[in-house]
Amino acid sequence: VDKIKEFEEQKAAAIQKMATDKKMKALTTEWFNASCTHNYSYNYTWMGRPIIQYPQDIVAMQEIIWQVKPDLIIETGIAHGGSLILYASLLQLNGGQGEVLGIDIEIKPHNLQAIQSHPMFEKISLIEGSSIDDSIAEKVRQFASDKKSILVVLDSNHTHEHVLRELELYSSLVTKDSYLVVYDTVVEDMDENAFPNRPWGKGDNPKTAVHEFLKNNSRFEIDKNIQDKLQITVAPDGYLKCIK
Ligand SMILES: C[S@@+](CC[C@H](N)C(=O)[O-])C[C@H]1O[C@@H](n2cnc3c(N)ncnc32)[C@H](O)[C@@H]1O
Repeated sequence: VDKIKEFEEQKAAAIQKMATDKKMKALTTEWFNASCTHNYSYNYTWMGRPIIQYPQDIVAMQEIIWQVKPDLIIETGIAHGGSLILYASLLQLNGGQGEVLGIDIEIKPHNLQAIQSHPMFEKISLIEGSSIDDSIAEKVRQFASDKKSILVVLDSNHTHEHVLRELELYSSLVTKDSYLVVYDTVVEDMDENAFPNRPWGKGDNPKTAVHEFLKNNSRFEIDKNIQDKLQITVAPDGYLKCIK
């Protein structure tokens, strides 16, 4: 037991030191900006489905899902379905309990077909509609009503207004000691014109929404340890732990 404790303490100290390493931070920012110009987040699949994530965040989600052992994972923003398949597969590895609910404003027919024919589909349910539509939020609440441990991931439209509304609608579903994960907060830290064809950018993105949300909500706190150890992440200040 002492050896395990020693290992954890050494790790925590190394992460703390790394978190204050300004040179590494600058390199990471430079690398991250460059990676976006190559659409790096589109490079991966999980069990055959495209997943629009950086590998570091995939590992972080694995650690969270193992730790929390949720019986429901809700994600807004499905795209090709890779992240839903990821969560379902991790729940399966964790003992088979739990299910995944995905919401997307448009589930493209080829993606729907591929998700429905995937071996992990038995753990997945899908809702088509806007995540900030009250009737969709009500369906999600119904689905979650008998669940005891809930994790929520927001990865749909990345404007301030949209994410803030999602936070208002879905944060109350997150259970104590679980997480509310808000993706693409990194937009705030990126080059001014990184997304010329998107409605979001500096000053109007998931991070500005998280900061506004946290001004009036004491149930959540930013788990800085996650971003400190990942360094490369799309979710700085986006891993929110539910503390009460
Ligand atoms: C970044 S992708 C999701 C990526 C996916 N979570 C993954 O990791 O592979 C964003 C998705 O959000 C969806 N979306 C955009 N606006 C939305 C809205 N108002 N409600 C729900 N989904 C929305 C888009 O259709 C798109 O599929």
